[in-house]
Amino acid sequence: MDRNRILELTADMTLEEKAMQMTQLSPDMFYHRCPSNLTGPLREWRFEDEQLQEIGSVLGPSGAAYLRKLQEDYLETSRQKIPLLFMSDVIHGYVTIMPIPLAQGCTFNPKLCEEAAEAVAREASAAGLHVTFSPMADLVRDPRWGRVMESCGEDPCLNGRMAAAMVRGYQGEDPADKGRIAACVKHFAAYGQPEGGREYNTVDMSRGVLRDFYLPAYREAIKAKAALVMTSFNTVERVPASCSKLLLRRILRQEWGFDGVVISDYAAVEELMNHSVAADALEAGEKSIHAGMDIEMMSGVYAGSLKTLLEQGRITESEIDECVIRILELKNKLGLFENPWKDADEQEEKKVIYCREHLETARKAARESMVLLKNQGALPLSDSGQVGLAGPFACTGNLLGGWHCEGRPENTRTLGEALEEKLGGRLVTAMTQPFSWGGDRDVPDMVEEAALGLKDCEVCIVAAGEPEWETGEASSKTNLRLSKNQEKLIHALHEAGKRVVLVLFSGRPLEIGPVLEECDAVLQAWFPGSAGADAAADILCGDYNPSGRLSMSFPRNVGQIPVYYNYYNTGRPAEAKADSYVTGYRDCPNSPLFPFGYGLSYTDFTCGGLEISREGGKLQAFVRVRNTGKRSGKTVVQLYIRDVSASVVRPMKELKDFRKVFLEPGEEIRVEFTITEDMLSFYNEEEKWVWEPGEFDIMTGLDSEQVETRRIVVPAQADREA
Ligand code: GLC
Repeated sequence: MDRNRILELTADMTLEEKAMQMTQLSPDMFYHRCPSNLTGPLREWRFEDEQLQEIGSVLGPSGAAYLRKLQEDYLETSRQKIPLLFMSDVIHGYVTIMPIPLAQGCTFNPKLCEEAAEAVAREASAAGLHVTFSPMADLVRDPRWGRVMESCGEDPCLNGRMAAAMVRGYQGEDPADKGRIAACVKHFAAYGQPEGGREYNTVDMSRGVLRDFYLPAYREAIKAKAALVMTSFNTVERVPASCSKLLLRRILRQEWGFDGVVISDYAAVEELMNHSVAADALEAGEKSIHAGMDIEMMSGVYAGSLKTLLEQGRITESEIDECVIRILELKNKLGLFENPWKDADEQEEKKVIYCREHLETARKAARESMVLLKNQGALPLSDSGQVGLAGPFACTGNLLGGWHCEGRPENTRTLGEALEEKLGGRLVTAMTQPFSWGGDRDVPDMVEEAALGLKDCEVCIVAAGEPEWETGEASSKTNLRLSKNQEKLIHALHEAGKRVVLVLFSGRPLEIGPVLEECDAVLQAWFPGSAGADAAADILCGDYNPSGRLSMSFPRNVGQIPVYYNYYNTGRPAEAKADSYVTGYRDCPNSPLFPFGYGLSYTDFTCGGLEISREGGKLQAFVRVRNTGKRSGKTVVQLYIRDVSASVVRPMKELKDFRKVFLEPGEEIRVEFTITEDMLSFYNEEEKWVWEPGEFDIMTGLDSEQVETRRIVVPAQADREA
């Protein structure tokens, strides 16, 4: 449909129809007419039937047959026959569930992340969905916040590369194509820094920190053509994101040129009243419209106030039309006017959902996302002897993590089954009772039975972690240790002289310091998805050499949070004078337990011989990486840069590029990085994107701590050309 037709449709709509086109409700609210239990502010909405017949989009429906019927029924009664948009939280999988995004970040493999997103989109589109509320590009530094699982971690570069990869995977060349869905990048902006790691809490940071760390990844998703942006619940500079002109008008639309649809988070428009920036629903509606909020999710402010606001002259019809036109353009972009059902197809659903190809992709992604944190020879498991398996994650399919959409834990292979297939009778399991959903926050004391049951096993795998329902939204915690009885089990097996292999299932970095010494090996498995058990077994049995590198630092303890690698220096750096008047704690080092970019392998790698070249006006770094071990494997060569002295403080190091490389034993390659002006640039005090001539440290390494450095001087442009 051409734009003129869109403009005609808009001009022909009544004000009520426009307000409803800008409203999104769940099916039980508008289709089944039964007020559901709304999360967030519990509200009893009173929509008239005529209003509900003109709604613009639907939250969270699924299934080709259901969505075809829902669209048909809707179009039958709708006056203008504008098709519904179907949107849902397909965060890391539809039915085939991929590793949680925090784990996908650990692959340092955007191509694999894109492949995973492509498989996810194939399933979701066959099930009739048009939009996914993903990628979540919030930068995260605080594992007390349960939603770190949805992010790709603490670094702007890695987060941005992964967010862009997911957008490409979901949308392909054109989200209207078969098997593709539109991407909605969220939560704009800076939702990942709630004070105290407490869910929905205030976010407050300087404009410079917002620019340096929290905005870049959203921008990469938008550069990748994400079709929608979802605003966050939090404030930015004391203004809630859902009515922030700074975020939505100045940065998103004017600076970044975003011309897609902006949708609020769940009831976030109505929550402007709770934030005390709106005295009533009218003011909430007024402020959201002025900021350019196109779709209000799951609240009725627009439906109830636009008419009055217009009559009172507080908003203009053209502001409303601007929103409606963007929504209709999105529907047009997806081809819904010609084909309101897009790809909803029950045959296609049966063919692609949970298919072998997607499970293979899930297994590849899970293998590459797991991080070997410690290994004193216990892994890979030897070819003989009995292997014990205990712990609440040993025999459960609850390996999918939060936001697992239509995932099927009941069909998900367990670690016990996957290990049984490889080890046969060598595997002995004991006390594998899982966490009970919503039950006690600990498992029973399993020491006696486990110790007895595993007495003949030299190596014992303990599959431990946090219950998956304690990850994701509304899941902040102040205690990140393993539960008491899990720690007790590890201790007892260690005391009994067993070699303990801890396999950790979690949606965040946990506080594993208290058990680390008692474990011979630790494999961070995250929530690895539908094929996660097989992937873990592949690694434990040596069929896959682990290559994951941490996307988020592991704290030594909760008191150390936030701990991250790209910190600004201070006037009294810890490395300075020997006296105690330097930045630090009396009871804990400043460094994390495990740093960003870290991960072990079953082979060994060296990275060195860093050289800087300026051939032909190009600034390049070259480094030699060698596999000095006995088996092939992958490692991630990381390029960090530090602006040694600038007009504002700069991080001690910032990841600017990375290369995942595969090397045979003894093989050596020379990795080349081109250093661009963009990599040297930052937002100065006037918020101008600049780079300043002077000294820069160029660093390369295999994690963010062990790096080789070359200090260079980059002269001003004129000097360089002289
Ligand atoms: C939730 C989440 C958001 C999600 C939305 C729709 O509250 O904050 O990430 O996309 O509501 O389910």
